[in-house]
Amino acid sequence: MKKLVVLTGAGMSAESGISTFRDSGGLWEQHRVEDVATIEGYIRNPQLVIDFYNERRRQLPTVKPCRGHELLAALEQDFDVTIITQNVDDLHERAGSTKVIHLHGELMKATSSRNPNDPSQIITLDADHMDIKMGDQAADGSQLRPFIVWFGEAVPEIERAAEISSEADIYVVIGTSLNVYPAAGLVQFVPDRAPIYLIDPKDVPWTAGHRYRHIKKGASEGMEELTKMLKLIAYD
Ligand code: APR
Repeated sequence: MKKLVVLTGAGMSAESGISTFRDSGGLWEQHRVEDVATIEGYIRNPQLVIDFYNERRRQLPTVKPCRGHELLAALEQDFDVTIITQNVDDLHERAGSTKVIHLHGELMKATSSRNPNDPSQIITLDADHMDIKMGDQAADGSQLRPFIVWFGEAVPEIERAAEISSEADIYVVIGTSLNVYPAAGLVQFVPDRAPIYLIDPKDVPWTAGHRYRHIKKGASEGMEELTKMLKLIAYD
C-alpha cells in the first residue's frame, strides 16, 4: 500500500468546534501565549497553566470528530496512513485513525514536572479524572503537569515525524498556518516524487521548494474532494 502521510493542525478540529490559535477569535486572542503555553509561564504560575489545560480538556467530551477526521480514518482502507498532528485533542483517534503522532503532546495525558518525557511518568486521564490540581503528584513525586510540549521545550517526536515524512508516497497538509517550527519544517522532508495536497480555506506561507496542490476548502469539504482524487491513484 502507498504511504500516505498527513500533517494536521488546529484547522482540522475547527469544524468539531475547537477554536484554532491564529484565526480571528482564536485562542491566542483570548490568552497570552507566554502565560499559558511556555515552560517559563508554567514555572512562573503553574496554577494558571494547569487551569488553562483543564478548561480545554473539559471541552473534549462535548465535541466529536468532524467528517474530515472520519474521511482520514477511512483512507486506511486503501493506504498505509500515518497522521502527524500538532493538535492535542483526541479526535483523530476517536474517528478511528490508528497511527497518530502527537508532536505537541496530548490533552488527555499528564506527566512529571521533573522529567516530562519519561514514559514511566506519563499517565492517561479519563472522564473520572479530567482535572489536574496543584498538589497532584506524578510517580516521581513532582507536581503532575499537562503532557503538552510548550514553547521553549524540545519536540521529542520530530525526528520520527521527519523520517516518516521522508518516506511518504503522498503528503497531505490540513488546517495548519505553518507558523510553528519544527512542525512547519516537516514539508521540507517530503521527497520530490511525492505529490503534496494542502487543504485550507486560506493561503498559508509556504517556504518549502516543493510544489503543492491547494484545495481551498475546509477540512471536511476538502477531504471529500481529496478522497475522490486519491481513490483514483491508490493502486496505480
Ligand atoms: N478547515 C481547514 N483549515 C482551517 C479551517 C477549517 N474549517 N478553519 C481554519 N483553518 C486553517 C486556518 O486558515 C489556518 O491556516 O487552520 C489553520 C490554523 O492555524 P493556527 O491557528 O496557527 O493553528 P496551527 O497551525 O495548528 O498552530 C500550530 O501553534 O500555538 C501553537 O502548539 C500550538 O499546535 C499549535 C501550533
